[in-house]
Amino acid sequence: GPAGAGKSTVAKLVAKSLHYTFIDSGAMYRCVALESRAKGIAVDNVDGLETIARTIKIQFGSGPDGAQIVLSNGTDVSSAIRTQDISSLVSPVSAVPGVRKYMTSQQQSMGSSGGVVMEGRDIGTVVFPDAEVKIYLTASPEERARRRYEELLAKGTETTFESVLKDQLERDHRDSTRAEAPLKPAEDSITILTDGLTINDVVDNICEIARQKGA
Ligand code: DC
Repeated sequence: GPAGAGKSTVAKLVAKSLHYTFIDSGAMYRCVALESRAKGIAVDNVDGLETIARTIKIQFGSGPDGAQIVLSNGTDVSSAIRTQDISSLVSPVSAVPGVRKYMTSQQQSMGSSGGVVMEGRDIGTVVFPDAEVKIYLTASPEERARRRYEELLAKGTETTFESVLKDQLERDHRDSTRAEAPLKPAEDSITILTDGLTINDVVDNICEIARQKGA
């Protein structure tokens, strides 16, 4: 589903409840964006970006409090990849075919032995077309922007609801119209519209679907 639908929160809790491993594929694209900025590689330098995607070592681990952390070439980048700067940069970076190619193959190998909840826009369509359960999680643009805005406020970031909504609509448009792996529900996915639902409602609903499929 799209940005701000609650995918990460829900996917993490579903994984916990089913005792599966959670893999945040967006964090992987964010690591490539962060590394490209650190190395001064411009967004139009597709060879440079592809080289980063091919060689970067991304790992998921857990921090002292049990929360998931993201390591990029051995460094904990969990907070650094969540800034607004990286949120803007990651969209064009993730549209580069070579970047997608290497991220997709890493994701496929991370999920090859099963027992995984993988979250991201193209998981059911491109990365795991044969996944047992596919959920397309979405919410209205206003609801999604409101959630992002509250998240940013809680982190102390100065911003306005209007600017978050504008970024959100631009990102949605780019993500759904790009040539490479555009955002769209897989034909065999189940769509859940989360407006007005609690996180627990959504998690319970998905776990029930997964159990019916044998999880
Ligand atoms: O879910 P997120 O906001 O952390 O994702 C960051 C960016 O990465 C977003 O612009 C879309 C892109 N992305 C992608 O193209 N494919 C994925 N499987 C996951 C994320």
